[in-house]
Amino acid sequence: MTGTVRTFRVPAQISYGCGAIETVGVEAKRLGGSRAFVVADPNLQKAGIPDRLMASLQGQGIEARLFVDVEPEPSVQSVTAAAAAAKEYRGDVLVGIGGGSALDTAKAAVVLTKNPGSLEDYFGIGLVKQRGVPAILVPTTSGTGAEITPNSLFYVPALKEKKAVVSPHTIPDVAIIDPLLTLSVPPGVTAATGMDALSHAVEAYTSQNASPMTDLYALEAVRLIGTHLRTAVANGNDLAAREGMAKASFYAGIAIGNAGTNIVHALAYPLQGQHRITHGVANSLLLPYGMEFNALSNLRKFGAIAEALGEPVVGLSPRAAAAKSAEACRLLSLDVGIPQRMSEVGIRPEHIGVLVEEAMKQTRLWANNPRQVRSEDARAILEKAL
Ligand SMILES: NC(=O)c1ccc[n+]([C@@H]2O[C@H](COP(=O)([O-])OP(=O)(O)OC[C@H]3O[C@@H](n4cnc5c(N)ncnc54)[C@H](O)[C@@H]3O)[C@@H](O)[C@H]2O)c1
Ligand SMILES: [Fe+2]
Repeated sequence: MTGTVRTFRVPAQISYGCGAIETVGVEAKRLGGSRAFVVADPNLQKAGIPDRLMASLQGQGIEARLFVDVEPEPSVQSVTAAAAAAKEYRGDVLVGIGGGSALDTAKAAVVLTKNPGSLEDYFGIGLVKQRGVPAILVPTTSGTGAEITPNSLFYVPALKEKKAVVSPHTIPDVAIIDPLLTLSVPPGVTAATGMDALSHAVEAYTSQNASPMTDLYALEAVRLIGTHLRTAVANGNDLAAREGMAKASFYAGIAIGNAGTNIVHALAYPLQGQHRITHGVANSLLLPYGMEFNALSNLRKFGAIAEALGEPVVGLSPRAAAAKSAEACRLLSLDVGIPQRMSEVGIRPEHIGVLVEEAMKQTRLWANNPRQVRSEDARAILEKAL
């Protein structure tokens, strides 16, 4: 690590706290907004979640249009339509509210307000030329950290792949995290998104690009998830648990935004692209297996993860302590009701070949992995997870 230069980027402003949604109008005005395009999804609209945000904008004299045609785990086509609607509206500030699906749709729409061409032109790393209109992102799930990261993910049906736009220009100007917005998230979504956040924290903490700055956020996110996820799933109205998970999600977002993900997300993307398994469930299925494979690379850090998840590690050898980290994640996902094996979500042995091939294409993520992974290794891990 000595002598290695690390860059640390986060949104220019992060507001956190119960009731923070009420500040959206003031922030939009501060950013020079007078006409806001707001992106949410239809379920959120039905639940009335964007209402307070719209009132906050209108309270500041900002004209606002609510757009809700967001797909879950959005396809490039749906995002292109959202971006076209945003462009046509000619807003001077763009607000995204929702889970990762709505926030990623909003991020793409922001890019296309000021950059020519189509979304596909920006798939890859660092291809976005300039920032779009000012942006505010408001998460309503505790999982993706999309309100913080430079990433956005889109499903390309023709390729059966998830593709990423990775650019610091997609980090919003303002992230507003209000745990009260997560009280209505159903238990299954709470569990899957929480396990996504745990994968972020574990992968960032053990990434090749980890730094002392990302380690602070990543390990604290692991600890918060170990403390709060079970309660948040068991009783969605427990505000302390929701607050703990909201913090964990944005800390883990800060960690992956700067250190990246690796083995778990790389193996999980093909499950989403080829078989349309939900992002959080796909990661959760692979998390313990990825950790078992990687533990060898840094027994100390994997031991610290076990300890942060509440495992008794005092007196254990570094190897035994590290082994407890994967076991603790497995128990957590079991407790919160996530499937434990890929076969439970329809994956069969004959699918493994394509999953390996597709996973090996995730070179952006493999570059962050602390242990070298050959395709035989990926196959062995996927076979274990079957
Ligand atoms: N940009 C990033 O850095 C990043 C990181 C991880 C994942 N992702 C992407 O994010 C997407 C997944 O996002 P997600 O896991 O947040 O799920 P999601 O946005 O698809 O939401 C899941 C479901 O929960 C509902 N929901 C959301 N908030 C709610 C609330 N407060 N109350 C009731 N229902 C609510 C939604 O309407 C939807 O039906 C995937 O496409 C994934 O690839 C992006
Ligand atoms: Fe993720």
